[in-house]
Amino acid sequence: MSEETIKSLLTEERSFPPPADFVKRANAKDESIYEEGKNPEAFWENRAKELTWFKPWDKVLEWDLPFSKWFVGGKTNITVNCLDRHVEAGRGDKVAFYFEGEPGDRKAWTYAELLTEVKKFANVLKGLGVEKGDRVTLYLGMTIELPIAMLACARIGAAHTIVFGGFSPDSIRDRVEDSQSKVVVTADGGWRRGNVVPLKANIDKALEGSTPIQKCVVVKRTGDALPIEMQEGRDLWWHELMADASDDCPPEEMDAEDLLFILYTSGTTGKPKGIAHTTGGYMVGAATTTKYVFDLHDDDIYWCTADIGWITGHSYITYGPLMNGATGVIFEGAPNFPDKGRFWDIIQHYKVTIFYTAPTAIRAFMGWGTEWPEKYDLSSLRLLGSVGEPINPEAWMWYHEVIGHEKCPIVDTWWQTETGAIMITPLPGVTTTKPGSACRAFPGIDVAVVDEDGKEVGPGGGGFLVIKSPWPSMLRTVYGDDERYKQVYWSRFPHLYFTGDGCKVDEDGYLWLMGRVDDIMLVAGHNISTAEVESALVSHETVAESAVVGRPDPVKGQAISAFVTLKQGVDSSDELLKELRNHVATKLGPIAKPAEIHFTADLPKTRSGKIMRRLLRDIAGGKTLGDTTTLADPSVVESLRAQYEKQES
Ligand code: WT7
Repeated sequence: MSEETIKSLLTEERSFPPPADFVKRANAKDESIYEEGKNPEAFWENRAKELTWFKPWDKVLEWDLPFSKWFVGGKTNITVNCLDRHVEAGRGDKVAFYFEGEPGDRKAWTYAELLTEVKKFANVLKGLGVEKGDRVTLYLGMTIELPIAMLACARIGAAHTIVFGGFSPDSIRDRVEDSQSKVVVTADGGWRRGNVVPLKANIDKALEGSTPIQKCVVVKRTGDALPIEMQEGRDLWWHELMADASDDCPPEEMDAEDLLFILYTSGTTGKPKGIAHTTGGYMVGAATTTKYVFDLHDDDIYWCTADIGWITGHSYITYGPLMNGATGVIFEGAPNFPDKGRFWDIIQHYKVTIFYTAPTAIRAFMGWGTEWPEKYDLSSLRLLGSVGEPINPEAWMWYHEVIGHEKCPIVDTWWQTETGAIMITPLPGVTTTKPGSACRAFPGIDVAVVDEDGKEVGPGGGGFLVIKSPWPSMLRTVYGDDERYKQVYWSRFPHLYFTGDGCKVDEDGYLWLMGRVDDIMLVAGHNISTAEVESALVSHETVAESAVVGRPDPVKGQAISAFVTLKQGVDSSDELLKELRNHVATKLGPIAKPAEIHFTADLPKTRSGKIMRRLLRDIAGGKTLGDTTTLADPSVVESLRAQYEKQES
């Protein structure tokens, strides 16, 4: 964000108090919940008591910085809270999910039906040799089998590790190896914009050579549209296994600190980090935030547009909403297929009341024009959410006016894969919102903005966003790498959790998120590290060196800009440029494909040989160059800029 945007943000004078009729029946109506949150342990303990446990905890928190244990000694199973509890309370016929497939297929799944499917697939997994403590990789599109498979893992105490369906064979292989998964669950393919995207074929490539995977379960989704090969002895059809599976499967008794799942996220050093979440604390964090942030009531229809392959889908499609007994929508497809009215059509059809999406989507909708949402009846909506990156005030206002018809509170929710649940957000029945601000910490969450030395800044100040005390749904470690956990999150400031985000505080104490302070790019809501893309580029035989930066992009938030030096004797050409972009896409997945590649003779480096990405960011962003005095050879930057400007014109 430019200094100008930041300035205009902090002088934002528009504010929106919660509508009176919303407050009337809100789950949180006044400040009292924040008062209760001032004693976090008591606050979270009371929330934990609202859930079902086989055995209560002996102690709420054991904090051995930076390692936390929550609800110590407690025993539970998250699927009991997601499913059995509602069925036993006579709510088995309530719809848990409406599935909306891209080819137009629709199916409603009740809580009772979902529980049966989960128990059956849990037995399938057991039959394939999966035991408590094992890991299972899920590589699926957005179909009902994905939540069924995750819950089936949780039912028997196996940790799921979901790999987003857009990831490449190399990414799958890294994650399968790091997690040492025994079984993988996938589908033949998925539907997107009228085409089939392959899933099983990617798994086949990922599993070539030696692999810890012993069995591969395949969902038939696209069928004849995408014939696949089944490997004798390894690959099995989901529907065949399910046909013979028993639906009797008591929940495994899990310790509060038993691993629930691993979810991989990009790191600056290139190798993805396996973010480890455990059972009890995650359960309490996801259930509580869903209840209060989305203000769920029995008659709501809730739709989060994220993919379950990201943390947003874990916490706010599967676990949080199910624990609250909600009716949700699961959507396969894209917002612009068969046309740009797709999302609004779904809202109208299901009478969606709560809608949760990302700023990158909102900016795309803005670009498509108001005529699309205006064609549909959106009057069922009563609450809107945003997540994934800072929402600029213009997008916030558009969301408020065009989608929310000025009557829906907007919750801009800040959190991370690592935090497991929402950390900073308005509460829709309590907080007066300001366009572009995520407002304040959730009750029981202790955040601060600090300067370089870890000193808290006052109103009007800016710096690093940190979290000061442990919270139930926090990551417990980087899977298999406690050292990396300490180094990444607890070394910048020894007693504070380092989020990696910049943040400003305005005169009213409202928080304004400013994006990543390190070298992670945020492309269309997805975190991609510069190092990851660089190493993909360098893996190509023609590339000597590369530096990758994110430059501002009006729709995606950031676009990937790559600077590449070629090996001696290799000539640059448009063909090579295309080849390199595709090379990155095959290595890392299409989302990581650079928007632009610039061939250059040299990269700007410090005398110690460190590439100065800051300067490249300025060049790519068209900004005036900052300090160049630490450069080994300042002329490099000038010739780069001249070349860049020529290419762009
Ligand atoms: C990073 C975490 C957790 C949801 C999906 C992304 C950015 C997320 C916001 C927001 C400003 C946001 C941050 C954060 N971010 N939500 N409301 N306002 N920035 O999860 O992939 O772990 O990325 O996304 O930079 O650190 P993730």
